[in-house]
Amino acid sequence: MKISVIGCGYLGAVHAASMAELGHEVIGIDVDQPKIDALSKAKAPFYEPGFEGLLERTLATGRLRFSTDFADAVGSKVHFLCVGTPQKRSEYAADLRYVEGATESLIGVVAPGELIVGKSTVPVGTAARLAELVEEKVPGALLAWNPEFLREGFAVQDTLHPDRLVYGLPSGTDGDTARALLDEVYETIVAAGTPKVEADYATAEMVKTAANSFLATKISFINAMAELCEATGADVKLLADAIGYDDRIGRKFLNAGLGFGGGCLPKDIRAFMARAGELGADQALTFLREVDNINMRRRIRMVELAREVCDGSLLGKRVAVLGAAFKPNSDDIRDSPALNVAAQLQLQGAVVRVTDPAAIENSRKLWPQLDYADTAEEAAERADAVLVLTEWQDYRDLDPAAFGRIVKQKRVLDGRNALDREAWTAAGWSYRALGRRAG
Ligand code: UGA
Repeated sequence: MKISVIGCGYLGAVHAASMAELGHEVIGIDVDQPKIDALSKAKAPFYEPGFEGLLERTLATGRLRFSTDFADAVGSKVHFLCVGTPQKRSEYAADLRYVEGATESLIGVVAPGELIVGKSTVPVGTAARLAELVEEKVPGALLAWNPEFLREGFAVQDTLHPDRLVYGLPSGTDGDTARALLDEVYETIVAAGTPKVEADYATAEMVKTAANSFLATKISFINAMAELCEATGADVKLLADAIGYDDRIGRKFLNAGLGFGGGCLPKDIRAFMARAGELGADQALTFLREVDNINMRRRIRMVELAREVCDGSLLGKRVAVLGAAFKPNSDDIRDSPALNVAAQLQLQGAVVRVTDPAAIENSRKLWPQLDYADTAEEAAERADAVLVLTEWQDYRDLDPAAFGRIVKQKRVLDGRNALDREAWTAAGWSYRALGRRAG
C-alpha cells in the first residue's frame, strides 16, 4: 500500500520505517530539511537502538523515501499524522498548532476514498473536530484515530510488535472503510494475533492519555511510598518487590527514584487535566495534580539529600552527576529529572560536572551553563559526592572499588535505586538513595 507519514520526529520516523518494513511503499514528510537529509542517508536524528539498522534496510529496498514536499503525499491511500503536541508555553493545555497545520496541508493533497490516520496524542474531542473539517473540504475522505504506545528506547520493537492496536473509527459504512484500510496497513501485526480494540474517536483518544496517566500514577504511588519509607526507615525497593508479586499490582513501573520526565508523561497528564477542566469534569482528574506534585518533590528531595551528604552546604562542593537523559537508552532530555537536579545543584553553589553516554550534545544546547565530562571517571574526579540520576547500564556496571580511587569523598547518591548497595558500601562508600536507609 502507498502510505504517507506526516511528521518525522520520534514517532513518525520510526513509524515510516516500520511501515516500509511491513512491505508498504512509504513517503515520510517533514518541514525540517536537515532531518529529512539525515533520514534519507539512514542517519537517525535521535538515539534509538535498532533504528538506524531498520532505516538502512528499508531505504535499500526503495520502499522508503523522505521529503519536505507535501505534494509527495499525493496518491497515498493512507496518510499518518505523526506531528508533536507539546505543552503550551504558559498553560497546561496541549499546543495543537502542528496537528492543525498538518491536517490543513493534508486537506490540500488528500482525495476521496483516502484515509487520514491521527497517531499524535491529542485532547479528547480533537478527532471529531478534524473529521468535520476533512469532510467539509474533501467529501469522501475519511479520518481515523490510532494512538501509538511506543516507548523511547524500544520504539522499533513497540511499533512492529505492539501490545494492542486501537482504532478510533467514524460511525457507519465510513467506519467499515476505515477499518478495512487500517487492517490492510497492519495486516502482519493483526495476523500475529495482536489484540485490536475498535472504538469511537473519543475513546481512542482517551485510551492514550488514560494509559500514560496510569503509568505516571503508578510511579508517583511508589514515590509517595518512598517518602513514607524515608520517614519510617522502611525500604521502598523491598516494598515494591513485595507488592509487585501480586499480579493485580505487578512489579513494572514501580521503580522508586527521581520520578518521571520526558516528552510524554509530564505533558500528557497536564493536558489531560486541562481538557477535563474545559469539559467541566476537572474533579475527575484532581488526583493527577498530586501525581505531578509527588513527582516534582522527588527532585527537590534529591537536592536536599545532596546537601545533607555534603555536610550541610553545597557551596563550592564538587558534585558529579551521572546521567542527563530522562531515562537510559535515550538521548532525550525533555523535562529530564537528572538535568533539573543538576541545574538546581549548580544554582545553589555546587561545582557540577554532568556526564551521559548519549545525551551530552543535547544537554549542552539546552543547559550551556553546566559543565560536561565525557566519562563517569572524568566527571567524578575529586568529587565530594557522586549522584547517579539516570540508570544507564554503564553506571550500574561501575566498579565501586576502582571508582572510589577517583573521588575525594566516597559518597554516592543513587537517584534511581539502580546500584548494588552492598557492593558499594563494601568498597567503603556511604550510600544514600530515595526511599531507603543510608548504607
Ligand atoms: C511513555 C509510555 O511508557 C509509552 O507507552 C508512550 O507511548 C509514550 O510515553 C508516549 O506517550 O509517547 P516514554 O516517555 O518513552 O514512554 O518513557 P517511559 O519508559 O514511560 O518512562 C517515563 C519516565 O518514567 C522516565 O523518566 C523513567 O525514568 C520514569 N520511570 C519509569 C520511573 O521513574 N519509574 C519506573 O518504574 C518507570
